[in-house]
Amino acid sequence: MHADTRRTVAIISHPDAGKTTLTEQLLKVTDTIGRAGAVNSKGNKKATVTDWMEMEQERGISVASSAVRIHVDGITINLLDTPGHGDFSEDTYRVLSAVDSAVMLLDAAKGIEPQTRRLFEVCRARQLPIITFVNKIDRPSMDPVDILDHVERELDLQLVPMNWPAGAGAAMGGLVHLDGGAREPAVWDPIGFQEFEWDEAADTLEMAVGSAGGFDREKFLAGDQSPMFFGAAAKMFGVDHLIKAICTLAPEPMPRLDAEGQARPVEEAFSAQVFKLQANMDQRHRDVAAFMRINSGAFVRGDKVAIARTGRPLVVTRAVEPFGRDSETVEEAWPGDVIVLPGSRDLRIGDTLHAGKAVNFPRITTFAPSIFREVRNRDIARRKQFQQGISQLGDEGVVQIYIDPKVGIQTPIAAAVGELQYEVFTHRMANEFGVEVGLSQLPLAISVAWDEKNEGTPPRATGMRVLESTHGIQLLAFGSDWALANYRKDHPELLLHDVL
Ligand code: G4P
Repeated sequence: MHADTRRTVAIISHPDAGKTTLTEQLLKVTDTIGRAGAVNSKGNKKATVTDWMEMEQERGISVASSAVRIHVDGITINLLDTPGHGDFSEDTYRVLSAVDSAVMLLDAAKGIEPQTRRLFEVCRARQLPIITFVNKIDRPSMDPVDILDHVERELDLQLVPMNWPAGAGAAMGGLVHLDGGAREPAVWDPIGFQEFEWDEAADTLEMAVGSAGGFDREKFLAGDQSPMFFGAAAKMFGVDHLIKAICTLAPEPMPRLDAEGQARPVEEAFSAQVFKLQANMDQRHRDVAAFMRINSGAFVRGDKVAIARTGRPLVVTRAVEPFGRDSETVEEAWPGDVIVLPGSRDLRIGDTLHAGKAVNFPRITTFAPSIFREVRNRDIARRKQFQQGISQLGDEGVVQIYIDPKVGIQTPIAAAVGELQYEVFTHRMANEFGVEVGLSQLPLAISVAWDEKNEGTPPRATGMRVLESTHGIQLLAFGSDWALANYRKDHPELLLHDVL
């Protein structure tokens, strides 16, 4: 099923840690490049084909997640992008439902930064195996032992170093590798490096690995242990070892659990799950494209599949690679691959498509929003378009849409994890639906989901809002952690679930 040749991976990092640089370097080592220049970029310094939307082009950022494909040593690495800007969105998180492992990229001088942590928490909740890459070791950095301690402590994650820097910063002589103890001299001229530091590095490496009890692939696959590499992406130093780790340590696509907890064998008939919808890839058609990850079987163009949610058949006459505007048509694809179906008005985020034996994968988690805003229609004459836009963009997951039953559907409440989602939302409401919306900030910051098993309706509290989604989820939203904690204390009998 070719699944054993696939590694589907995302890089998680904080802005500026070097994700763009690393992605470019990974593309350079590849036998055949999925698409040259398919890397997101900031500013105009690099060409980009992933910026579909006008807004992205104006701002020189990538709102949408995309992918590149790398072929190396008979392995195909599908590298899915998680937009790396300070201002990120739920798309960033959803991508993590479509990968089998992640590379956590850290800046050697900064360690764990806020966005790395948020993305890491999502990986942990999904028990995703993580390979750690400590980047920019050619620059003044934290001491390697301190980095290791810091990451272990901050994330409560066991690290096993697979290489170790000999010397430090400008005086760094190179890397000692665990694998055979090879000494790899730096590709730059170290100033003041002493030969004996090789032995010191080898000893420290041995000690650090020993105290972790050695590398254990099972622990890594369970997300309990992370192999750690030092390197410098910009200098193409240590990057080959990272690639090797992705090929040899990172898991191939495994059977995925369906909504009933049954595993769908990778060899079963075709199945895939939509993890992202993207509008406007083609301005002329007001197109919506569905990005899906194949979980089992082969995708063959022209095959008839079913949409699990509706039971409706769909003949997939056209699917494209997820590399950008001039995407190529896909004739066949395999588990772990991502394909894009243009013109998919009937599909929603989380939808399962399948051939053969029916299957329905679990809903993709909704992420804990922290910014809540009331949405008002500024043009009463365009009431219908307003409702259409709200419903379409809500389904696409641009923002989450809720209704406060006390207020009604004419003033929905939007919720999001990042400011950028609101920019995309207002831009698209205006451009695609011709509706000017007004947004007003609500004094809400945290929410929990109401369990249907609770009796009656949620007891009220000052400052709390009850919000209902179109999927029947009830959120209780509060102004602060403190307000929520008090509510839990006042109502210990209630079942309330954390939203991830
Ligand atoms: P991002 O996508 O994670 O936001 O980071 P990006 O690759 O854009 O890298 C951020 C900055 O860090 C860039 O510098 C990049 O060159 C630098 N960088 C990345 N990897 C390394 C490394 O291994 N060593 C060193 N010394 N620097 C690294 P910039 O000044 O913002 O841009 P540029 O003009 O250098 O391209």
